[in-house]
Amino acid sequence: MSDRPKRLRRCQLSVPGSSDKMMTKAAAMEVDHVFLDLEDAVAPNQKAAARGMIVNALNTLDWKPKTLCVRINDVDTEYCHDDIIEVVTGAGDKLDTIMLTKAKSAHDVMFVHLLLDQLEAKLGLKKRIGIECLIEEVEGMMNVDSIAACSDRLECLVFGMGDYSASQAMNIRNIGEGDAAYPGDIWHYPRYKMTIACRVHGLDPVDGPYANFRNPDAFRTECVRGYTLGMVGKWAIHPSQVEIAQEVYSPPQKAVDSARKQKAAYEEALQQGLGAINVDGVMVDAATVRILQNIIDKADMIGM
Ligand code: COA
Ligand code: MG
Repeated sequence: MSDRPKRLRRCQLSVPGSSDKMMTKAAAMEVDHVFLDLEDAVAPNQKAAARGMIVNALNTLDWKPKTLCVRINDVDTEYCHDDIIEVVTGAGDKLDTIMLTKAKSAHDVMFVHLLLDQLEAKLGLKKRIGIECLIEEVEGMMNVDSIAACSDRLECLVFGMGDYSASQAMNIRNIGEGDAAYPGDIWHYPRYKMTIACRVHGLDPVDGPYANFRNPDAFRTECVRGYTLGMVGKWAIHPSQVEIAQEVYSPPQKAVDSARKQKAAYEEALQQGLGAINVDGVMVDAATVRILQNIIDKADMIGM
């Protein structure tokens, strides 16, 4: 496994690259990760201009500590190569990652990987640019394991439920919403499948958008579902969703304190030759400590 940079992705805020106003607002916000969009939030007749606006925003705004990403058009479009070349040439040293849309196979990711190799060499960039990849086509979901394995630039996969539901011809109302007609969580299988592939290959699994931004309770429910099955964060398409995602995807302080206490008790017990112990009425053993370590690692990253 490569030395992938460790980044917080409790929330990834989507910001249209054709809006100076929204990019300025996003720069000032407290959020782990922002991606400036060249894809679906930008009308085709604005895409060329938006590249320049993104380069300008990356170079001139004070972004505070956050991961900076640009979302590009997919490899089947006429825009993809120019998106990468213009943004990396103009602001490659400010950029942490490029997010590829609608990947169907490992070849799509390798196109981005190889173009970044060439640009970084040509421009003499010191910092290696990572790749984030949307799984939002049925082909991408079927190939998720080979996609996750294909590039040491990959840092995360995102389950993009908007395009995914279209690709599978699912019958849903708004992007990201479940459906009462379906007995169970309609997103269970794809989220689960993608999360497993990410964990096998050391990538962060991220959950995609929830379009009805006037329904914070339902958004929170979706965050809790992703957090519970091991995802690291969720997209926000509107500022009002950011705080909810950041909060749900941070372990509660009580859980962090308890994890550290149980781990310490277990380590002490090992010295006495005990492999399984009783901590406040709960059995703690080596498997427990593996589970707790995930909470402790996340808390350490957040600085809790
Ligand atoms: N990033 C930064 N700022 C945003 C924002 C975003 N994603 N979405 C809204 N804002 C700003 C608005 O400009 C507005 O600023 P103001 O108070 O200074 O005027 C404020 O937040 C409140 O916005 P609101 O009026 O409630 O929403 P809106 O009607 O302006 O915008 C959307 C609604 C959905 C069009 C807008 O949120 C949006 O474009 N979201 C991103 C869409 C996207 O990226 N889609 C692709 C990925 S799925
Ligand atoms: Mg999409």
